[in-house]
Amino acid sequence: MSVIGAPITRVDGKLKVTGEAKYSAEFQVPNVAQAVMVRSTIPNGKIVSMDTARAQRVAGVIAILTPSNAPKLPQGGKAGIHPPAGRNLSLLQDDEVHYNGQPIALVVAESLHAALYAKSLIAVRYQPAPPKLDFMAEMDASHPGHHGKDPADEGRGDVEAGLAQAEVKVDEIYATPIQTHNPMEPHATIAKWDGDHLTLYDATQYVSGVKSSMAKTLGIPDDNIRVICPFVGGGFGCKGSMWSHVVLAAMAAKQINRPVKIALERPQMFGPVGARPQTYQHIVLGATRDGKLTSVRHDVHCHTSVMEDFLEPSAVQTRMLYACPNLTTSHRLVPLNLGVPTFQRAPGEATGTFALESAMDELAYKLNMDPLQLRLVNYAEEDPQSKKPFTGKHLRECYSRGAEKFGWSKRNHEPRSMQENGQLIGWGMATATYPGNRMAASALVRFLPNGRVLVASGTQDLGTGTYTIMSQVAADTLGISTDLIDVKLGDTTLPKAPVSGGSMSAASVTPAVKVAATQARLKILTMAAGDSQSPVHGATPEELDFKDGKVFRKASPDKSVSFTEILARQGNKPVEATGDAQPEQDAERFSAHSFGAVFAEVSVDPQLGTVRVRRVVGVYDVGKLLNKKTGASQFIGGIVWGISLALFEEAHVDPHTGRIANANLSEYHVPVNADIPDIDVSVIDIPDMNFNPLGARGIGEIGITGAGGAVANAVYHATGKRIREAPITADKLLA
Ligand code: MOS
Repeated sequence: MSVIGAPITRVDGKLKVTGEAKYSAEFQVPNVAQAVMVRSTIPNGKIVSMDTARAQRVAGVIAILTPSNAPKLPQGGKAGIHPPAGRNLSLLQDDEVHYNGQPIALVVAESLHAALYAKSLIAVRYQPAPPKLDFMAEMDASHPGHHGKDPADEGRGDVEAGLAQAEVKVDEIYATPIQTHNPMEPHATIAKWDGDHLTLYDATQYVSGVKSSMAKTLGIPDDNIRVICPFVGGGFGCKGSMWSHVVLAAMAAKQINRPVKIALERPQMFGPVGARPQTYQHIVLGATRDGKLTSVRHDVHCHTSVMEDFLEPSAVQTRMLYACPNLTTSHRLVPLNLGVPTFQRAPGEATGTFALESAMDELAYKLNMDPLQLRLVNYAEEDPQSKKPFTGKHLRECYSRGAEKFGWSKRNHEPRSMQENGQLIGWGMATATYPGNRMAASALVRFLPNGRVLVASGTQDLGTGTYTIMSQVAADTLGISTDLIDVKLGDTTLPKAPVSGGSMSAASVTPAVKVAATQARLKILTMAAGDSQSPVHGATPEELDFKDGKVFRKASPDKSVSFTEILARQGNKPVEATGDAQPEQDAERFSAHSFGAVFAEVSVDPQLGTVRVRRVVGVYDVGKLLNKKTGASQFIGGIVWGISLALFEEAHVDPHTGRIANANLSEYHVPVNADIPDIDVSVIDIPDMNFNPLGARGIGEIGITGAGGAVANAVYHATGKRIREAPITADKLLA
């Protein structure tokens, strides 16, 4: 049985549970100073004065960087790098305040305590200006926004004509709130200069992105910067960008000629390091009596910061998920005095499927049709927008296997028809989807004289399993045990890899590992054949095979030579190869997407309006799943977040001050173990060979998609009440 796909326990698991895995703030750098960010307390205006005299006198304070004394950066700190790495930052280059909580100064001290105390003594005077904080009031002043290469507006056919043909219509507004990333590990950076060379220990999803953005921001050569990040305690998109604190750490370290550490406090996760924007989504569906969609409209407004355009592209999946000849979609941005929003797990699809799949459920009720049947009636055999074939699509199997596992056929379609012990029971379902993304990546495989094999790439492991799958793919290609493999990643001195975002690390990096391992293996075979003392001397590589670290003739497997013997006779030098991989040449011929079907059961207390999720079944088509154990954890984690989107999460903006009112983990509700039921996930597991040589599409984001909609639809089925504004809380259900 191939090691690829096997449910191998994560290879870095032991390091993590024993505390040996070093996270960015944990690197012991001698003589390091501690820095804390001072943040604005108004949402808009100018800093008139900043009195730091008392703070300066605190014992242990080394420096206080403010807009009046901070080093001036080229282009005012606006390096003009595209996201994800480059963002519009707050680098103390001017006196302007654009949101409440913006970094406006940095206190550097011998200890964290001294820095925090000094920070409390800084007095700031502002000249406030009226802030833009009311999303609904600002909606008229919106402008088009795009996400990567996705256009703001896209459509086909004639939606008005399609609506005229419709016998049944749904026309509703769906909304989702600001959601703030809260990985267990908050952002943290240690910056250390050696002359004009900078080393950064940074919690990031993108070591090479931080390297190039930092170089441009400081105006120094790329090669003067090294970024190290062996472990990430969760990313989910917020660590895809280099935010202000990373540059502030480097500026301060230069200024005081000592290493500087900044570890963000939990409340600082709410504002300066991105959040999922709030969305306001208008969906119109038209269909014939038999459920065929004749017209689809999906118009999205979402907030962005006055500092920068960032779009949550919630209508993008609507363009390709169902077959419908007439469609229009649009995205508009509403700038507010809030921190710059950013990528959050399945940006677009998470909030977009909440809305679209709720609307499809509403249509099913208007048609008196089973919601799953409605999806099948509108099944897209090819990408209905691009008209391209899918690289591979097995969504029908997801629907049928999921329905069978869940027992969907026993569902009574009538709302409020299922009750148990005085609780209302609801069953809902939704479709999950996320694009198959892939970018160029490189990796290295090195045979070492001590009998071990090093596999390395400048990628990242967000805690999800990159170490493990790199080791599996190398083990499979080399025919050796994963026990003999060491993996190195998270360092810009290693071969370059893309951002660990957009669910593309596995899909991009493992093909490069495969190429590198194949090349390195060939080098060992060639050396063995050229070695006069080896039993395979004189053979061609085609006549040879390699297993368990030994080279032998396919014709006589009993006479072998180990790679350590070969290396020993060649002076004990390592043998290595680098492999590059990029999207297939004909990638543009296809539309690459993953799919899934999510089924949820909830119970709702009719008196209290409390919702409990009782079970969830998710079945996914993601091509080949590289590791059934770490992969299942990814899907489950995504579904947990989908439940959170439906029922719990919401960052509250104070309408007067623009402050995030619940910037902590006690009032920013996320599910705890007691909120999460049995989650049953599985995959169709048919390799997608049109996508990459492993047949594997990424799985980081698809789990959150569909899950929110499935829960919302289950709540409707239980209660007969449609809540179109997430999160679905007791007050809304009882209203
Ligand atoms: Mo993901 S939101 O692209 O880290």
